Amino acid sequence: MKLKNQDGQIAKLIELETQRQKETLQMIASENHSSPAVREALGSLLTDKYAEGYPGKRYYGGNEFIDKVENLCIDRAKKLFKVEHVNVQPHSGSPANMAVYLSLCTPGDTIMGMALDMGGHLTHGAKYSFSGKLFKSVQYHVDEKTYLVNYDEVEKLAKEHKPKLMWVGFSAYPRILDWKRLGDIADSVGAYLAADIAHIAGLVAGGVHPSPVPYVHIITTTTHKTLRGPRGGMIMVTKKGIQKDSELPRKIDKTIFPGIQGGPHENAIAAIAICLKEASLPAFKKYAKQILLNAKALAKALQEYGFNIMSGGTENHLLLIDLRNKNITGIDAQNLLEASGISTNRNSIPYDPAGPFKPSGLRVGTPAITTRGMKEKEMKMIASWIDEVVANPKAAKKIAQEVKKLCKKFPLPK
Ligand SMILES: Cc1ncc(COP(=O)(O)O)c(C=O)c1O
Repeated sequence: MKLKNQDGQIAKLIELETQRQKETLQMIASENHSSPAVREALGSLLTDKYAEGYPGKRYYGGNEFIDKVENLCIDRAKKLFKVEHVNVQPHSGSPANMAVYLSLCTPGDTIMGMALDMGGHLTHGAKYSFSGKLFKSVQYHVDEKTYLVNYDEVEKLAKEHKPKLMWVGFSAYPRILDWKRLGDIADSVGAYLAADIAHIAGLVAGGVHPSPVPYVHIITTTTHKTLRGPRGGMIMVTKKGIQKDSELPRKIDKTIFPGIQGGPHENAIAAIAICLKEASLPAFKKYAKQILLNAKALAKALQEYGFNIMSGGTENHLLLIDLRNKNITGIDAQNLLEASGISTNRNSIPYDPAGPFKPSGLRVGTPAITTRGMKEKEMKMIASWIDEVVANPKAAKKIAQEVKKLCKKFPLPK
């Protein structure tokens, strides 16, 4: 009400976006619906407080309660992910990754990561990102036939280039990574190994996906994808990390502040603490399990309609669809689906002949629709709509109405 009176334009846009989220299916694999408790903390007065530094060592007064919030958040993250040290201040995933680079490497050092068009993230050494500009980036790929990470190539490249830092993790890879093998490769060349679990953090926390903890030195994550918190980031140091370099926690903390950030967003940190508490409850385990069941059910149903699911299926929350046999580009499919009330994103597929601007693929994820309570039955319905509109674009309007009806039955978290 206050917002409406003070700034009608923004109030209206928030209302429209709320309506869009309520009446359509959010199937962008990196998105989710946070709980009202998380959003309450985000909108709290904590947003007004400056707290440069760390609990007990702030550069401003008045942080008695803020320190408690941040300590709670750190303790919950340590317990949930079973790690030794956590920095909860990164404003998001990319700054978290930047802090890891600047803690361990100097510009010009060699780093390794999965190529962007193979499913890796920009910050894993892509040439458009600071990570590819500041460092000598060696990129690994997936196998051309199986679309699984080519571990032999990773090993060969690591031995040849001796990277200082290796990244494992992804934004668009539907399979479980072999953490142990990757850990052995990094160890064999003395590299630091960082796992970026931004996409799968909620699956790891929910116990339905193997944790990289025993095999890597550092873990970074966002907090807003499968973990279902506010937008934010965390950097964790494992026992193995401390054994390799006891200075790692100090180096990372110093890089975040004063290295690359100023005041932490304590309202977001409070909201992260809440999502970590939520993620430690039995209901979250059930949720994480259902994300996987839904992704598998969706993949299977789409395959039955003749869609080509890269790597033959999924072991996590996302699927990558190769649309070439359906004679439609990723962008056209994204737009058609959007007109049908199904929000997805176009994506390059590995070895995409079409290039990055009109890629041949579509990335689809189940975290948000699972939060709404949807199950395998609804996945079948969604697959049938995807099939219908790709075959007949004129069906979009009718499907959008059916989607709206389904969404009404599965409201956003209240
Ligand atoms: C694997 C991975 N790492 C890092 C990020 C960056 O996160 P943010 O967008 O919060 O900077 C993403 C975002 O999609 C991601 O998928």
